[in-house]
Amino acid sequence: MGEYKPGLSTPIGRWAAVGPYYAMFPLDFAFEVIENYSKPGDLVVDPFAGRASSIYAAATKGRHGLGIEINPLGWIYAQTKLNPAPLQQVEDRFRAVVMASKREKYIDLAKDLPEFFRWCYSKEILAFLLAGRNLLNWRANKVDRTLMSFILVYLHGKLGQNLSNQMRQSKAMGHLYSVRWWKERKLRAPQIDINEFLLHRIRWRYEIGFPQITSSKVKMADSSKVLKKEVEAFEKKIDKRCSLFFTSPPYYGLTNYHKDQWLRLWMLGGEELPLWVSEKHKGRFESQVEYIELLESVFSVASEIMDDTGTVYVRTDIRDFTRTTTLEILRKYFPDWDEKIVEAPVTGKTQTIVLGNTSSKQGEVDIILTR
Ligand SMILES: C[S@@+](CC[C@H](N)C(=O)[O-])C[C@H]1O[C@@H](n2cnc3c(N)ncnc32)[C@H](O)[C@@H]1O
Repeated sequence: MGEYKPGLSTPIGRWAAVGPYYAMFPLDFAFEVIENYSKPGDLVVDPFAGRASSIYAAATKGRHGLGIEINPLGWIYAQTKLNPAPLQQVEDRFRAVVMASKREKYIDLAKDLPEFFRWCYSKEILAFLLAGRNLLNWRANKVDRTLMSFILVYLHGKLGQNLSNQMRQSKAMGHLYSVRWWKERKLRAPQIDINEFLLHRIRWRYEIGFPQITSSKVKMADSSKVLKKEVEAFEKKIDKRCSLFFTSPPYYGLTNYHKDQWLRLWMLGGEELPLWVSEKHKGRFESQVEYIELLESVFSVASEIMDDTGTVYVRTDIRDFTRTTTLEILRKYFPDWDEKIVEAPVTGKTQTIVLGNTSSKQGEVDIILTR
């Protein structure tokens, strides 16, 4: 089993970095919790897995991980990290998409897209993205999914290091704002040779190998509907009860995991423009009742599936409604468990500081329940 060292010099660290997501665990934190609160062979469950740092840390440290994530972007990264397709097959598929992108059809499709896309990407890159969007069956095919994750990683970010014009990497800005910003600075879409750019980066990911993984899985689904069934089936399969319930629920009224990722979700077949998502659990939580219902459903299941000697480790927003609601619900379902509360100081690594919010209190709080 390889060591996790922050950075990209080990297989564990290199694959852990797949891919940019919003409000994600700092990697060293995910590994620390796994090492400190579980042992090899244990089952670790995360019902709000995001890009699955918790599950990946568990799986690379000899534990079994079971995650649920409703956002396809987090799920794709998770699947690639836990089970990537062989490099040769990914390269072959990549070449097939590049070939297809030369067809008239994709050049024409590019012309019909909103202005944003032509400022963001060169003609050739846009045709490549449209071909990939059309051809890659990422839900069902492992090779297609692995290739799609690499495209998503480099879809936008710093100029020269990604396929796009200058953008943020973890969060896609609005289309009107972006176009105005590029126009003011006369920043045209960069000319990039897709073969040189992407092949080189895909090979780099595989170059030093892949870590050993203990059987683990992340399911794309709504935890409030499937958590119990999924955990029970997995417990049966590995003959273990859950001994670490390690998660970070969405923060009330704060991050919108779908809107913030609208461009990557477009690549996965979503809308051309960042529409406000109103589907339950996919937008930003604005309804206190729905938020309470979600936490109730997930933590009530947690209390049924946990091993008697397990740990519940929850990282959440320090601000009042999220913090108080989470604590009350945890106390209701784990009444006689010991409780430890650690307020995480605001550092460059916290999940919410990057939002630039103006609340006086920022940062996270860790609630740790043990028996
Ligand atoms: C704070 S983030 C967790 C990030 C994660 N710890 C990581 O390192 O990437 C909360 C996650 O919960 C997901 N989520 C929200 N509602 C959900 C639901 N009903 N079922 C499953 N996942 C959900 C969001 O899409 C988001 O990825």
